[in-house]
Amino acid sequence: MASPRSSAKTRLQKGKIVEPRVHILKDGSLSAVAEYIKEGKAKNIIVMSGAGISTAAGIKDFRSPGTGLYDDLEKYNLPYPEAVFDISFFKDNPSPFFRLAKELLPGRYRPTFTHYLLPLLARKGLLLRSYTQNIDMLERLTGLDDELLVEAHGSFATSQCIKCEVVTDSKWVRKHILKSSIPYCETCGGLVKPTITFFGEDLPARFGRLALQDFKKCDLLIVLGTSLQVEPFNRLITRVGPECPRLLINREKAGEEMHGGFDFDDKWKYPTVRDAVFLGNCDDGVRELAKLCGWEGELQAMFEAGNIEMQIAEEMEALSLAAELEEAVAVANEAEKEAEEEAEEKAEKEAKKGARKEAKKEIEKETKREAKKEAVAVEPETKRPLQKKEEGKEKEGRQKETPAEKDVPSEDDVVQQLSERLLSTDLNAASETFTAADEILAVSTESVVVVTTIVDTKEAPKPAQV
Ligand code: APR
Repeated sequence: MASPRSSAKTRLQKGKIVEPRVHILKDGSLSAVAEYIKEGKAKNIIVMSGAGISTAAGIKDFRSPGTGLYDDLEKYNLPYPEAVFDISFFKDNPSPFFRLAKELLPGRYRPTFTHYLLPLLARKGLLLRSYTQNIDMLERLTGLDDELLVEAHGSFATSQCIKCEVVTDSKWVRKHILKSSIPYCETCGGLVKPTITFFGEDLPARFGRLALQDFKKCDLLIVLGTSLQVEPFNRLITRVGPECPRLLINREKAGEEMHGGFDFDDKWKYPTVRDAVFLGNCDDGVRELAKLCGWEGELQAMFEAGNIEMQIAEEMEALSLAAELEEAVAVANEAEKEAEEEAEEKAEKEAKKGARKEAKKEIEKETKREAKKEAVAVEPETKRPLQKKEEGKEKEGRQKETPAEKDVPSEDDVVQQLSERLLSTDLNAASETFTAADEILAVSTESVVVVTTIVDTKEAPKPAQV
């Protein structure tokens, strides 16, 4: 590492000789940092970022008064705002998180100008690592090599059952989140959640492993868009060596209160002067830094190219969604057509069944009517002979064939004929059939009477005396 800049003279302070303050940066300004970079002193830059770099993409940060996410959670009825990311609260009541996840789901936001600083530094071989607290995965969308990215608080990239820890398909979880339903593990029934680090959970092992080695090597720390409120991420700023310059680009000062934290106002009289701050929007601060380093045109071109790429990806996504939708509509139409055919078939069957039932009822009513008429009209002795007497001689003995045994169509045949006729809705034919049915019925009723008489008296009824 290049030897730090130092002021030659030893200073007396209140009569005591104090070591000279070593100026790593000429002062606490952005231009001092740009100068340090242009002198080639920054070869292993670490970038730490928070929600402030994504607000320009349309994603709320957490703590900005009035606009931060934690100011907008009343609808979830939480005991305190962070509960939405608290693992013990989640286990009892997962719905606030999944409702919020619907708003945070990646896929609808694009990386900001600030995000493209990462691939720019990587392209120049100056980026050691990017440590982000964000779960929106926008760093990945800039094309940054995964090796150079540590998502300290996890992301929506993967999902896991919190009970059996089976890794589940994130697309499946995404579908649940979009349908506002809670995903339960198909293996053990436990709750499934994206691998976002909740309060009360350990940070990813990769975070601890890489932080241990990276921060010792770091020769310029750039901190972007974070309030540095959350441990252990915020303490990373104290893990760099005392000669490593540190730059905060944020709307407000942050990270001054912890031991070894930032000292923008030279309050702690650290032995080295190395902290710089740009108070304002990340995109403005990053643009200013790039300009001072002579990288603004390159960074702008990467940002624009990235946006075009995102636009094409979004259009492809929209097209494939439209194709999926079209296919789903076609399948739905097919299913609807089949259902209609099935319904028609069923209705036809029902109609036939109904017609048969109708016909049967008519027959029964007719039979009753006839039977009544018969019962009233005919006296026992004046029963009409079943068969005409042959001229001049009476037939003796059991009639060879009683009309009852004649091949009179059975009731079922009549029903069949009637329902076919009824269905053809040929009313005349139906009334003819009724007349025919009448005759048939009269005959069959008489035959019934004859047969009954034979059975009762064991002899054919005597033909009436003429
Ligand atoms: N430019 C610069 N600074 C910004 C911008 C912007 N466009 N937008 C917001 N900021 C600043 C805010 O003023 C605030 O200081 O960014 C900071 C964002 O702070 P937080 O909302 O606390 O977000 P962050 O620091 O990322 O939170 C850390 O807390 O709840 C947890 O898991 C959550 O990862 C999150 C962690």
